[in-house]
Amino acid sequence: MNPQELYKQKLISIPEAVSKLQSHQTLGVAMAASEPPGLLSELGKHRDHLEDIRVWVCLPLGTYDFVLDPSMDGHFFVENWFYGAADRAVHSQGRESYIPNNLHEAATKKLYAAKERVNVFFGSATPPDSRGYMSLSLGLVLEKQLIRAADIVILEINENLPWTLGDTQIHISEVDYVVENHVPVAELPVVPPTAAEEKIGGYIASLIEDGSTLQLGIGGIPNAITAFMMERKDLGIHTEMFTDGMVDLYNAGVITNRRKTLWNGKMVGAFALGTKKLYDFVHNNLGVEFQQGAVTNDPYVIGKNYRMISINTALQVDVLGQVCSQSIGSRHFSGTGGQLDTHRGAQLSENGRGIIALRSTAKNGEISTITPLLSTGAEVTIPSQDVDTIVTEYGIADLKGLCLRDRAKALINIAHPDFRAQLQEEVERLGIVPHL
Ligand code: COA
Repeated sequence: MNPQELYKQKLISIPEAVSKLQSHQTLGVAMAASEPPGLLSELGKHRDHLEDIRVWVCLPLGTYDFVLDPSMDGHFFVENWFYGAADRAVHSQGRESYIPNNLHEAATKKLYAAKERVNVFFGSATPPDSRGYMSLSLGLVLEKQLIRAADIVILEINENLPWTLGDTQIHISEVDYVVENHVPVAELPVVPPTAAEEKIGGYIASLIEDGSTLQLGIGGIPNAITAFMMERKDLGIHTEMFTDGMVDLYNAGVITNRRKTLWNGKMVGAFALGTKKLYDFVHNNLGVEFQQGAVTNDPYVIGKNYRMISINTALQVDVLGQVCSQSIGSRHFSGTGGQLDTHRGAQLSENGRGIIALRSTAKNGEISTITPLLSTGAEVTIPSQDVDTIVTEYGIADLKGLCLRDRAKALINIAHPDFRAQLQEEVERLGIVPHL
């Protein structure tokens, strides 16, 4: 059958697609900007026919009834690899829980180690080309693994999605059903950096030499670095997430990918999240390669890059160098994502470095983010034995190989000056370092 006919045969309405799901089943969902908003908005409307559905999500962007509405209790339970704002809001209501993971093996652990099944997969894709191939577009972190594992694959076709290249193609014959929903693609606005973030950006830029390959993480700080990198030459990108800042660096001729050891000449990443500027940039761009998260985030793959620098953000760091990036005390905030993967991978690379950046204070300067101990219940994202370089607006602490006394000194030196004496006193009082 020709691909166009096959497509028409598989095209159903959104309500019909959701009715393929049955009680006590598991639904896997594509992440971030590749989540299918039509199918997910419809899901809650089927509440009365659905009991005990597990929904696997990762960094959801939309606000959906099946997550937010308390009457969904008993009908839908959300398991989430990376929380967004809506997930934080409902966490305390008990209808959602976080799945601890390192991104490169997130799907593998669920599907093979925990032997869990995906009955239905909801994702998104571009319309097919004349041969019946579609592009999975903005997300390749877990999507292909979930598609391969699912009994029923349903894709929401959106002509506004960019056609991305790499491992993103899927043929209409590999899909069970398609629905159409041509809506604007979800965006993550770029927030202008604060004065502290600009200082941090300057320090980080000072650690990046020409010819380095970069990974930039999620949050305000990684985007603040861009402005300080305009004089660099021949940078490369090997990342988990493509960002707007990378487009600026590419357009300025700073990113050329020419000196990369892996995928020479190409930026490599697993998903894109930003504004339309980024989505237009990745559209049909032979210089941008999407690979599955299991590949981009494998520390041993990352480590094959020469001079690989990972740059991620944290919420709290204790004087031992334990990094918490995913919770505020016992309140779960986001997720590990690829932070530990990329931090470890960068250190496996020749002349590589794993950087964690954070503002020295939070809550309008009321509390120090460098602390003697992590807050009770804080989740450790990077253990002290893996930590490399910490940067705040007060400087750079190179922790690799340092004993606890020297780590505490280095970290107190980059804490906000208003908290330094107090930190020293507490560290001594607790016996972490008896005499600093
Ligand atoms: N104690 C209490 N509250 C704190 C805090 C602390 N130590 N540190 C930050 N906060 C608060 C902030 O005040 C802010 O509150 P607000 O939203 O009410 O203003 C909130 O927590 C978010 O902090 P902010 O630093 O602005 O977050 P961000 O958007 O820059 O993101 C992370 C930072 C760490 C949450 C984010 O980078 C993350 O989730 N990282 C983990 C995953 C990762 O790095 N993956 C890598 C590859 S993509």
